[in-house]
Amino acid sequence: MCLLYFSYQTCPNSIRKKILQTDFAEIFLPSVPVLQWAKHYSEQEYERLSHYRGAHGWGTVSADVLNESLAILNTSANRLMFDNWEKRETKSQCIRCAVVGNAGILNGSKKGQEIDQNDYVFRTNGAVIKGFEQDVGSRTSFYTFSTNTFRNSLRSYARVGYKSAPQTAETRYIFLPDHDRDYILMRAASLHIPILKGKDRSSKPPSYFGSDVTVEKFKMYHPDFIRYIRNRFLHSRRLNGRLKYIYRPSTGAVMLLAALHTCDEVNAYGFMTPDFQKYSDHYYDKTPHRVRFFGNHDLRMELKLWQKLHKAELINLYLRT
Ligand SMILES: *[C@@H]1O[C@H](CO)[C@@H](O)[C@H](O)[C@H]1NC(C)=O
Ligand SMILES: *[C@@H]1O[C@H](CO)[C@@H](O)[C@H](O)[C@H]1NC(C)=O
Ligand SMILES: *[C@@H]1O[C@H](CO)[C@@H](O)[C@H](O)[C@H]1NC(C)=O
Repeated sequence: MCLLYFSYQTCPNSIRKKILQTDFAEIFLPSVPVLQWAKHYSEQEYERLSHYRGAHGWGTVSADVLNESLAILNTSANRLMFDNWEKRETKSQCIRCAVVGNAGILNGSKKGQEIDQNDYVFRTNGAVIKGFEQDVGSRTSFYTFSTNTFRNSLRSYARVGYKSAPQTAETRYIFLPDHDRDYILMRAASLHIPILKGKDRSSKPPSYFGSDVTVEKFKMYHPDFIRYIRNRFLHSRRLNGRLKYIYRPSTGAVMLLAALHTCDEVNAYGFMTPDFQKYSDHYYDKTPHRVRFFGNHDLRMELKLWQKLHKAELINLYLRT
């Protein structure tokens, strides 16, 4: 068993222990794979996963792309969420994670210092940091995105200062692969080679993650994990209607639920709260505007899930009181 990212041994009150005393015990699978890497590719796995679309499987990726891309993820860092935990000089008893969404509730929150004091800090998509450190902190241990959402963020939030993915010594990149673009970009970035065709074609190697990025910095969510959270935590009514093929949990929801399955303690900031109408869509909006809802996600269902997890004391959700 390779459960090194779990610190069962030391943390007396970890989420994985507490959850068994809650209503979530029925749906929680402690053994679900959160990440995928080299060992996951085989002809049988391809046959099994090619039945599911988008982020839920490999249905939109060719066998060759998968084989050659997943083969790159062959280091121990690709298998472990907290790959540097054992090497840390100062370790707390429990792995404490701050998971930071981009919601407007963070504007003026002054939570930056508290966020940075966690062992790990998760962020996603258009996570603008510069100029907002007091409210959102400055560290990024994990940056979660799909190639599509990341490129949309660069386009949409350049005006407010989102110019590149966070690039610090501690930053790891977790792809949420919902297309073959993600597998292709991850491989090209790891090997420092250009992308010869497709939407992300470029004559130079991808520079999004810094020029000296190594494969140890990349991780990828397993499609089984995405399907599991869709089916068990966020089984939206959208799955019964015309939106069923485009529906998936939002990138922020995948990030928060991945933290719930790997951290001992989760402190969530900048996620949807019942009073979301009081705040702008994002903390970094230049002028306040309403939260936008899209057909491919169910943010109202996510909002309710965060409330339930908070009430069950499985996450500490930042609420403005
Ligand atoms: C994956 O690629 C390797 C190297 O190119 C090849 O030897 C192997 O047969 C491929 N595996 C499958 C299952 O196609
Ligand atoms: C890991 O993959 C790289 C190529 O990406 C290869 O050079 C190396 O030999 C592989 N290592 C192992 C242990 O398979
Ligand atoms: C952030 O808060 C300030 C002070 O309350 C307010 O003036 C501004 O409009 C807010 N910005 C957004 C995007 O909500």
